[in-house]
Amino acid sequence: MQMQPLFGVEEKNILLEYLNENPFFTEYKKTEEFEKLIANYVGAKHCIVVSNGTVSLTLAAMALGISYGDEVIVPNYTMIASPNSLKFLGANPIFVDVEPDTLCLDLNQIERHLTPKTKAIMLVSANGRYPKSGINKFEDFCIKNNLLLIEDAAQSLGSFYPDGRHIGTAGLIGSFSFSTPKIISTGQGGALVTNNDEIAKNIRKLKDFGRSKGGNDIHDVIGFNFKFTDLQACIGIAQMKKLPERAQRKKILFEKYKNELKNVDGISLFNHDLQNTSPWFIDCLAENRNALIQFLTDHQIGSRIMYPPINKQLAYLYPGNFPVSDLIGEKGLWLPSAVQLTDHDVKRVCSVIRKFYSSL
Ligand SMILES: Cc1ncc(COP(=O)(O)O)c(C=O)c1O
Repeated sequence: MQMQPLFGVEEKNILLEYLNENPFFTEYKKTEEFEKLIANYVGAKHCIVVSNGTVSLTLAAMALGISYGDEVIVPNYTMIASPNSLKFLGANPIFVDVEPDTLCLDLNQIERHLTPKTKAIMLVSANGRYPKSGINKFEDFCIKNNLLLIEDAAQSLGSFYPDGRHIGTAGLIGSFSFSTPKIISTGQGGALVTNNDEIAKNIRKLKDFGRSKGGNDIHDVIGFNFKFTDLQACIGIAQMKKLPERAQRKKILFEKYKNELKNVDGISLFNHDLQNTSPWFIDCLAENRNALIQFLTDHQIGSRIMYPPINKQLAYLYPGNFPVSDLIGEKGLWLPSAVQLTDHDVKRVCSVIRKFYSSL
């Protein structure tokens, strides 16, 4: 099966048409159209697109009133943008380990990290997965402990909870990223979704210098410029049409890898609920990881080490015991995962992996 290129004729056509039309360049009608497409797809009342999936998290926290000295529970396994987005506000990420099979926050470990300063949980749906304990338990836990729930769903467009809600729509605010290589990309870009009118209004204001109304220069709060552009929105609109096909293809790729590698000692793929969720990357634990990476490179196959535990990053150096994120830091590997991979490509990658482990 041959997939379309990431950016193809659809993106070129819509951009050319737009440039011929009297373009506005910064965010306007095309941005509104892109926002509507996302809101409809995920089933949220509001979608606000912003410059990227890091400032979207900062904006989410700002819109919820999180500020200097507040504490937010964040997984110790995630992309560094999740905690950094809070540091931007002077808030403190409190790291908690993840579940070994879903790589999402382990709810059982959160309670003992709560203090009077804890304001929120930032739940990251790692690689499109949801926590094993179930999203309802997270929602209940937040209500019981008076915590706000922010969903960092940067890796999860195209993935749903088993109850049918799109990942990112269970929290007060959900955040997505469109940086390359996300399932859809506008080069850079992010989106926030919410069902709360007040929060949506607040986010729109904060991303536009705190203007009390679009286009004026009256400011009742301090805001920033986290806006989008209509040029990116043109690409996003074309990309959204490809989303269902890509989500489906990612599931098929994952299944193929799983099948091809099921009897290989030394490599184990994490599980995925393929009925509801679509993997972003093919993630696994690999024995002799560095030697495997070199062997793959020698065969012109790219791979990538999964995120190291955040508490061990020099930027954080945070105390604590995090066995699951440590294990990912030691053995976690992303295999080639692009939607354009053919079935033949997957077979080839897996045969090189088999060759590597049989030679040990
Ligand atoms: C979980 C997570 N959060 C946030 C981000 C940041 O998004 P962006 O690169 O659009 O700033 C990423 C990017 O990969 C991510 O994976």
